Formats: sequence, C-alpha cells, structure tokens
Amino acid sequence: MQKLTIGLFGFGVVGEGIFEVLNNTPSLNAVVKKVCIKDPHKSRNAPSTLFTTDREEILNDNEINLVVELIDDAEQAFYIVSAALQKGKAVVSANKKMIAENLDALLSLQKKHGVPFLYEAAVCGSIPVIRNLEEYYDNDMLKAVSGVVNGSTNFILTKVNEEGLSYSEALLEAQRLGFAESDPSLDVSGRDAVNKLTILLLHAFGTITSPDDILYRGIDTLHTADCKVAKEKDLRIKLVATAARLTDGRIAAFVLPQFIKEDNQLFRVSNEFNGVVVESRLADQQFIYGKGAGRYPTSSAVLSDIAALRYDYRYEYRKLKNASRPLLTNEFYLRIHVSFDDWSQVNKWDFESIDEFHSTAERNYLVGLIQFEKLRNASWYDDKNVSIILTADGIVEKQVLLKQSLKKLSLQLAGV
Ligand SMILES: NC(=O)c1ccc[n+]([C@@H]2O[C@H](COP(=O)([O-])OP(=O)(O)OC[C@H]3O[C@@H](n4cnc5c(N)ncnc54)[C@H](OP(=O)(O)O)[C@@H]3O)[C@@H](O)[C@H]2O)c1
Repeated sequence: MQKLTIGLFGFGVVGEGIFEVLNNTPSLNAVVKKVCIKDPHKSRNAPSTLFTTDREEILNDNEINLVVELIDDAEQAFYIVSAALQKGKAVVSANKKMIAENLDALLSLQKKHGVPFLYEAAVCGSIPVIRNLEEYYDNDMLKAVSGVVNGSTNFILTKVNEEGLSYSEALLEAQRLGFAESDPSLDVSGRDAVNKLTILLLHAFGTITSPDDILYRGIDTLHTADCKVAKEKDLRIKLVATAARLTDGRIAAFVLPQFIKEDNQLFRVSNEFNGVVVESRLADQQFIYGKGAGRYPTSSAVLSDIAALRYDYRYEYRKLKNASRPLLTNEFYLRIHVSFDDWSQVNKWDFESIDEFHSTAERNYLVGLIQFEKLRNASWYDDKNVSIILTADGIVEKQVLLKQSLKKLSLQLAGV
C-alpha cells in the first residue's frame, strides 16, 4: 500500500469535509500536506501553515503524489488537474462541469501520462455509480441508465410539491444545507444534470459527447399548475437524466423534467437523494440509491477514490475500445406535456399529434407527440412561461409509431 501525500485544492463544503474525514481515518496512510484556497483572509478550521493561495506550491512539490481537486471554478480546476496529470500525480476530483466539458482532453492526458484520474463524487455524490458502470456492467449489455442525478433540484421539487414551500424558499434551504452549487443556475437549469449525463454516457456506453450537444431543460420553468396536474394524477415530477438504447442500437440521451409513476423506482427518490435505474439485457432493472450531495456523502465518494488509489485502481475505459460503440441519435419521438398561458407561445405545427388539450382560467395544457429533432431545434419553449414535462413512458420509437399507424389503418380499412 503506497503512502499518499495529498495536495488539496478547495476548503469549502466538500474540501473541508474530506480534510476532516482523512484526519479521522489514519488507517488510510494518506496525509494532507498543503491546502490551496482562494481567499487568504477567511478563517479556517485548520492550522494556518497548512494553507496557500499559490497553486504551484502544490503542483511543484515532488513529495505530493495525489492532488484532490475540490474547487468551484471549472476553468481553474482544468488547469490544476491537467498540470497535476502532466507532472505524474494521481488526481481525484468532484468537478462534473470541468470533467464533462473536457472529456477528450482528460482522456488523452491520462493515456499520455499513465496516471489515474478518479471522479466518483462528480456523479450522484455518494452513490458508486461510475465504478459500477465501469466494472460490473462491463459485460452485460446495458439497455438504459436513467436517474435523478441532481440533489439540489430534487430537494427543491420535494419541498415545493410535497411540503408546500415556495420555489425561492426551497432554493435558499438547499443552499443553506450545502446541496446547491455556488452558482445555483447550474442546478436549476438542468446544466449540472447534463454534465453528469455526459460522464455517465462515457462509462455506461463508451460514448463521448459534449454537454452542449445534449438537449436539457431544468426545473426553473415549471409552473405551480404543473405540480397540481401531477398531484391530481398521483404522479411526481422529477428532473431525470436519460440514456436509453433504442432498438437500432443507438442511444437517446437528454435531461428533462418527467412525470414519474408510482411503480418507477425514482418515484420515492426525495430531498437531496439521488437514484439511478440501470437496465441491462440479462439482469433487467437494478436501482442504486443514496445521498447525491452534501459535505459527508460527497466526501465519502472522494474518500473511496483515495482509498482505491492505494491499490493503484484506475478507470480502464474498456467500453471506449469496443468497436461497436453506440452513437447518439435524434431519430425518435417524445410524448410531452406542455403548459402555457397563450397559444402564441407554442408552435402546435411542431407536433405530430396532439393527444390531449385542456384549458382552464389559470393555464393551458397539451400532451403531444413531437420528433426529438424538432424539439431540439424549437425555440418556443425557451419562453419562461412555457413548461415542458416528459410523460411517464415518454420515449416513442419510430418503428413503434409506424406499427401503431399501420394497425390503425388496417382497423379503419376493416371498418372498425
Ligand atoms: N457540495 C456538494 O454537495 C457537491 C457534491 C458533488 C460534487 N461537488 C463538487 O465539488 C466541488 C467543490 O464544491 P463545494 O460545494 O465544496 O464548493 P464550495 O463550498 O463553494 O467551495 C469551493 C472552494 O474552492 C476554493 N476555490 C475556488 N477557486 C479556487 C482557486 N482558483 N484556487 C484555489 N481554491 C479555489 C474556495 O476557496 P475559498 O474558501 O478561499 O473561497 C473554496 O474553498 C465542485 O466542483 C462541486 O461541483 C459538490
């Protein structure tokens, strides 16, 4: 077991958490030698000699063989992680934004310098989802991975829908408890979830993509009337990241708020908890559940990565080497619920069919089938007064649609 001498970047919610946890886990043989922070004037719960604001002090220290990067600035984090890997230091990070936005570069750096880079805490906090996808689901062909992957939005949705708090009260509470990102717009816009989906796609299917190429919506446009609809129909609204293999082998991937039925495992994922449903060819559905944010849950994943480095664990990215790596596709349909104030806000001609329409004094609602490509290209739902929610079994494949219309046609011809 090699001794780990750690240079820690960041002493916020997670950084201070892991510092404390490491100090209480002497059996790990891992010592924090230096901590780099941004603001030298903040008071810290650790000796002042430990701290520096000069990142090079850690990066140029040959005794430090592990950099643990836990800062909230993705650009700076990329510099730190790249420099550390180039200097042959192992790296552990929780920075999903930085990882998702620089996947290609980070993969090349790992390959070139042959050092491990682990980031279990970047997706779903304490839930060991990356290592599971990487190791356990390597052989059994995966059909789908879908999950509630953002603790902060799930906390807000739970407080608003189940406990009657206002949206801003719930957001403040999430920030107070350390579940929200320092910039909460990343959470509520769905951007954080799409960053995590980008990482999940790599480890689940060996698919490399950019978060900018994935359709996402968050919870910031949901209307109180949508919550009422969910309640009336015994459904829950969750922000779900989906990656599903279609019958042609390609992957449908997106992040959208979705109506969840009681029989879906995600139905009971509440507060800051996360849950991921993994569907595979042989094992059918499996469910991983746990805390997705917060000081100690996130520290537990960072700790697990640090512990794994003692036996030189590294991601092997075996699925990347698979010749039949699936590509992402836009060739499928979604059945979505749309709520809006006025028809001028929605382009009804974008829909293949509108299956339901209701109008009340408060709001208009429709449920319709739309080509995914059309939804991607549409701008009408950028209007903050329009909300879209995926229906419970909202992915519709082209083949299924074709079969349904043929059946309808043959019934019509038979006079039924
Ligand atoms: N909080 C969670 O539940 C959670 C869960 C999963 C993943 N994460 C990820 O973990 C990382 C840290 O999150 P956090 O919640 O701990 O953030 P945080 O509480 O806002 O703390 C950020 C820390 O980064 C330091 N920092 C910022 N820029 C720096 C720079 N250029 N050089 C050195 N230090 C710098 C800050 O220094 P000062 O103290 O001097 O301001 C602060 O200590 C983020 O990538 C986040 O996405 C967080």
